[in-house]
Amino acid sequence: MAYQQKDYFFQKAKSENYAARSIFKLQEINERFKILRAGYKVLDLGAAPGSWSQYASTQVGKQGRVLGIDLQPIQLTLPNTMFIQDDLRKCDLEAILNAHQMPPPVDVVLSDMAPKTTGIHITDQIRSLELCELALATADQLLRPRGSFICKLFQSDEFENFRSSLRKRFGKVEVLRPKSTRKESKEIFFICLQNQNSKNFGKNSALR
Ligand SMILES: C[S@@+](CC[C@H](N)C(=O)[O-])C[C@H]1O[C@@H](n2cnc3c(N)ncnc32)[C@H](O)[C@@H]1O
Repeated sequence: MAYQQKDYFFQKAKSENYAARSIFKLQEINERFKILRAGYKVLDLGAAPGSWSQYASTQVGKQGRVLGIDLQPIQLTLPNTMFIQDDLRKCDLEAILNAHQMPPPVDVVLSDMAPKTTGIHITDQIRSLELCELALATADQLLRPRGSFICKLFQSDEFENFRSSLRKRFGKVEVLRPKSTRKESKEIFFICLQNQNSKNFGKNSALR
């Protein structure tokens, strides 16, 4: 379990059987922006130890699917959810989705990916931005038209540049710092709605 500091959200996650206190960030985002719906296919990038996938799995229900990927193994067994241990920088996610009966496009791409922090702010910020760019490239490839993308960034001078690239691709881009984010953390989340990419996914491309 990824509990570190035993604060209010730590205790709450533990009592509700969530793998990490991060669940409450996604819950707050979803309650505000209504991103996860019954029947949706969801990609969870940087999924370990699994609390976002736990939450997504309950939101998409029996008809939905969740695929979580992480460098680390994930020990949970959840309905309609698969976990893959791999490096997103190297794997062929489209092939993985096809192999797991979850052919693209997906309705939602979530990324809570974070680098192993070094304590050197500039290094951590650059690595976080690289993971955001990787997540965005994944959304470009696999997210359906009008789909949603959520992505975590460690705040830096690159914030505006990255937001501009998001605004070119999505109809609406919001920024949120969830209530459960630790005081000392520099993380913020981009909530990107209405993917403007009109990539044709063939027979899987039906708009919702
Ligand atoms: C903050 S944790 C995610 C917590 C998760 N959302 C949850 O609720 O349990 C960030 C994760 O990003 C993963 N990560 C970082 N770089 C990655 C990469 N290149 N490919 C896959 N996962 C990566 C890390 O291994 C780490 O488990």
